[in-house]
Amino acid sequence: MDIATGQSVTTADRESIITEVLDGIYTESGRANPYPLYDKLRALGPVVTAPNGTVLISGYAEQLAFMKDHRLKKHPGRRLAATGWPDWKDRPSLRLMFDSMMFLNPPEHTRLRRLVQATFTPGRVKGMRSVVEQITADMLDALPRGTVNWVEGFALPMPIAVVGALLGVPPADWPLFQSLAANWTLVLDDVSPETVERADPSAVEMEECIARLAHDRAKKPQDDLISAMVAAQGDDKLTRRELVTMAALLLVAGFETTSGLLSKGLAALLKHPEQADRLRTEPELAGPAIEELVRYDAPVQFVANRTAEEDLEVAGIKLAPGQPAWALIGAGNRDPKVFTRPDELILDRQEAAPLSYGGGIHYCIGAALARLEAQVALPAVLRKFPDIQLAGPPTPRSSHLISGFVSLPVTV
Ligand code: HEM
Repeated sequence: MDIATGQSVTTADRESIITEVLDGIYTESGRANPYPLYDKLRALGPVVTAPNGTVLISGYAEQLAFMKDHRLKKHPGRRLAATGWPDWKDRPSLRLMFDSMMFLNPPEHTRLRRLVQATFTPGRVKGMRSVVEQITADMLDALPRGTVNWVEGFALPMPIAVVGALLGVPPADWPLFQSLAANWTLVLDDVSPETVERADPSAVEMEECIARLAHDRAKKPQDDLISAMVAAQGDDKLTRRELVTMAALLLVAGFETTSGLLSKGLAALLKHPEQADRLRTEPELAGPAIEELVRYDAPVQFVANRTAEEDLEVAGIKLAPGQPAWALIGAGNRDPKVFTRPDELILDRQEAAPLSYGGGIHYCIGAALARLEAQVALPAVLRKFPDIQLAGPPTPRSSHLISGFVSLPVTV
């Protein structure tokens, strides 16, 4: 039964709707606004299986159960081997990415996560506030007046500066890390001979730069995360290679994602001027407002890298071993069973936590830092430029996984 029309939907209709949605989310208009497509999927039920066997989860509760179920495992190596990369550990870009904590299972994941959490603490994030405020103020001061591309002028360089400062990358190297990360992360969306060719040299250079930094900090520690990771004492420590892989992961995981929040968040605010006015004048609104903006248009639209090891059922979802399954975060964040008037931006909404930072053991380790960056930057830009306006349509990034803009023209 189609919930919207009350009419029964044949298997052929279902399949054509699911195919339309799957094709649609990869188009430019689908990447810019996937929400009408998610509505079509949701009308078929919270969990559907595509003709190609992929399970698509749009329901909030079902996604949370899926992301939290420890029986599901990540095996990027199996997928890489099956798609022509059995030697993936010999390719620097693939090894550095897919051998990192984000793609590991317990007990390796548990150990690495514990070790990094001992240094990347809530106290360290809190201590970053004045750094984030200074970077924000400097970058807003440097924005030329008139029409500017917000992504290039702020939303992209700002998170790399913040993660750079967190780790201890010298400011002169921030642009270098930005371009290395951009090339290396090509393999997140598409592992093809062309992307791997482009990503490999950047991954090697990234590793070398971080290894040099770790070497310097071992001799002369500073108040930064690399020094803290180098100095961490105890029987169990990060090896130098693990440290380099972890630092590289933190850099890239916190870069395009936060940039997506800063650019999609600003676009949403400028389309809702009355809400932007509230954020401009009510400092206590910053906390809930950033949660609402990350719900309204999530920078990571889906999580698709967990599979079952054997036949199992999770929240009514039947999964066969190795069967692909996608938690469509953007759809779950607009589930009407959980959020009232889900398509509206309501900055003081206080409902369920958005799914935008994932769930379970891989829950985003940088969520507190991302929140801090957006809570500082978005009210600051609105206050500094009271007449700021959108100056044209945004150009979406070509990635569907990490969604954001290549350009967002605004007049300041
Ligand atoms: C708005 C910004 C951000 C969003 C939307 C976001 C989203 C996510 C999501 C959905 C996951 C889970 C992936 C999965 O389950 O497969 C994740 C994991 C992760 N994130 Fe973030 N992230 C953001 C910012 C950051 C920042 C600032 C950092 C670091 C400085 C960071 C570091 C990580 C790491 C290391 C993981 C892997 C955790 C693990 O596997 O245990 N993220 N993030």
